[in-house]
Amino acid sequence: MKVPQLLLAAVLASALLLQAAPAQAHQPDGKHPPGQSKQDTLRRAAPKDFKIGSAVAGGGHHESQDYPDPFTFDKEYRKLLGAEFSSVSPENQAKWEFIHPEPGVYRFAEMDAIVRFAQKNKQAVRGHTLFWHSQNPQWLEQGNFSDDELRAILKDHIQTVVGRYAGKIQQWDVANEIFNDDGTLRTADNIWIRELGPDIIADAFRWAHEADPSAKLFFNDFGVEDINAKSNAYLELIPRLQAQGVPVDGFAVQGHLSTRYGFPSNLQANLQRFDDLGLETAVTEMDVRMDVAAGTEPTAAQLEKQADYYQRALEACLAVDGCRSFTIWGFTDKYSWVPVFFAGEGEATVMDENFTRKPAYYAVRDTLRSAARR
Ligand code: G3I
Repeated sequence: MKVPQLLLAAVLASALLLQAAPAQAHQPDGKHPPGQSKQDTLRRAAPKDFKIGSAVAGGGHHESQDYPDPFTFDKEYRKLLGAEFSSVSPENQAKWEFIHPEPGVYRFAEMDAIVRFAQKNKQAVRGHTLFWHSQNPQWLEQGNFSDDELRAILKDHIQTVVGRYAGKIQQWDVANEIFNDDGTLRTADNIWIRELGPDIIADAFRWAHEADPSAKLFFNDFGVEDINAKSNAYLELIPRLQAQGVPVDGFAVQGHLSTRYGFPSNLQANLQRFDDLGLETAVTEMDVRMDVAAGTEPTAAQLEKQADYYQRALEACLAVDGCRSFTIWGFTDKYSWVPVFFAGEGEATVMDENFTRKPAYYAVRDTLRSAARR
């Protein structure tokens, strides 16, 4: 064969090979060790202006487990966190108990390290969280402070923490989980609302905005994926605050789902009604847990159902203009909070304990890819 004929034959052969290549839907590519390929990561698949994020494992339940701090010590974990995601959220490292362990004493090293990592890997950071009923230090909860002292403590905390990372945090979950399921305020649990009244919520947003005018300031909650009493409560509260000039930018749904229950089928409509108010929206803590008996593996049907939930949640966010950030609450089952909290449930993330990509991983990646092509 002459050279041009050889070339033609080679081109035809490779075209045939390409045609014959199986569709990649939900399958590993075979060329790379699972979870290692730099070419086909989630962040590469995502539309340009869309953040695909993960919580950064550390603090919280990790401290009672038999492994060292994952973010600090697990090299493979760090590599994947940098390669796969365009946004990171401190799982526990910016919560009161962790970052403000004693009166007037701030512990910034871990959060600083996350922010440095994000800058190195060109990632956005979501701050979590400033005003919550949970994971508060004992000195705060049991301090018997006067109202004036408490206000001053909250203002100092918000301005110190937000101010330290000014310009480096894309979105802050300023107020976390302030409503009960029936849409009433969590007055009994939340020290700030209980002691200082509901107007303190507005102050928290004002103080955060003063400390970093560029950060987008969010409400964040679980159980608000659907249209229900709790999400209705936010829909009523946020415009009321905005009418008073309070700097609220967004409403975030956490997205802790379980295959035991149906998918929240009004998720898109719910996000859209906040979008219609001119608010940003986000999915901030997505995971999908399932029932797993000790020592057994999830079935293919369970994994497919999980993948379907991830896909539908991501599609709902992508369909809403102002939903530009989708974060999963940890990317590997190795470090997930789920089995620690829910006996008999687990496997909630997109990679297994060995960082092997699960069907949910491919569902997320393919959904991002389709959106990027539109
Ligand atoms: O408070 C005790 C402390 O007294 C004790 O010394 C320590 C020993 O390990 O345990 C402490 O409690 C732990 C807590 O983190 C604070 O460190 C709990 O056992 C531990 O389970 C807890 O886990 C975190 C949980 O929030 C607490 O609510 C998880 O790591 C974290 O993933 C989870 O994240 C939350 C989001 O922030 C908000 N949305 C829900 C989401 C899942 O619960």
